[in-house]
Amino acid sequence: MRLILLGAPGAGKGTQARFICERYGIPQISTGDMLRAAVKEGSELGLKVKEIMTTGGLVSDDIIIALVKERIAQPDCANGFLFDGFPRTIPQADAMKDGGVKIDHVLEIAVDDEEIVSRMSGRRCHPASGRVYHIEHNPPQEDGKDDVTGEPLIQREDDCESTVRHRLSVYHEQTEPLVGYYKDWAAQGDDQAPRYHRVEGVGSVESITNQVLEALEGQA
Ligand code: AP5
Ligand code: ZN
Repeated sequence: MRLILLGAPGAGKGTQARFICERYGIPQISTGDMLRAAVKEGSELGLKVKEIMTTGGLVSDDIIIALVKERIAQPDCANGFLFDGFPRTIPQADAMKDGGVKIDHVLEIAVDDEEIVSRMSGRRCHPASGRVYHIEHNPPQEDGKDDVTGEPLIQREDDCESTVRHRLSVYHEQTEPLVGYYKDWAAQGDDQAPRYHRVEGVGSVESITNQVLEALEGQA
């Protein structure tokens, strides 16, 4: 199973990715998590992308495409993978298409902007695993601590309201065109085209997981 989770910042891609990856035994490839790890390490890549990420802009296509190509060549991707936060621009999608990387499903998680702004202020993250929580809607078992490791949770630097609003405008401008890109490709009846699914991302985390699984397995 090779799939793309498409959706605005805060739509719940990381939250749903965790369940989907467990169910299908595939790795989650979150370009955001990979870049945040590079920033934390202080690597050359991290130094290059730090400021762009803090302000909510997009890292250049060249960097991202090289990062993803290297990642999907790893042995754990042989049976599939889930892209979370990639592709985010038409050139990134073209790089996969032109490179012959066949994707089975594109799954859009739709949530409107105001809901997203209110969600982000309550988000808490466990950076080492990529697990995400929400202080009200999806709380950890113990306040401020990761369920699995008990380590402290953090707030992301790009989760302040003004940066979230900027990330949303970048999403509408540069990433939302991918909805049409994949829908049009699927409509051409090309057997290389992924199937396109859209689920409403508002409701309990479990109800959205159920819709996601129904979409993926109903078409299996
Ligand atoms: P990235 O890490 O990909 O961030 P994003 O796309 O902005 O998405 P988020 O991680 O913010 O949200 P999510 O959809 O995963 O939501 P989550 O599940 O956490 O990218 C960060 C930065 O890296 C970018 O700005 C860019 O600079 C760079 N970058 C990354 N990829 C790139 C690329 N391909 N090209 C160029 N640059 C790139 O959920 C959000 C909150 O809501 C959580 O608190 C969660 O608990 C809660 N929640 C989840 N589901 C529900 C629900 N059903 N009801 C209520 N609350 C819920
Ligand atoms: Zn995420």
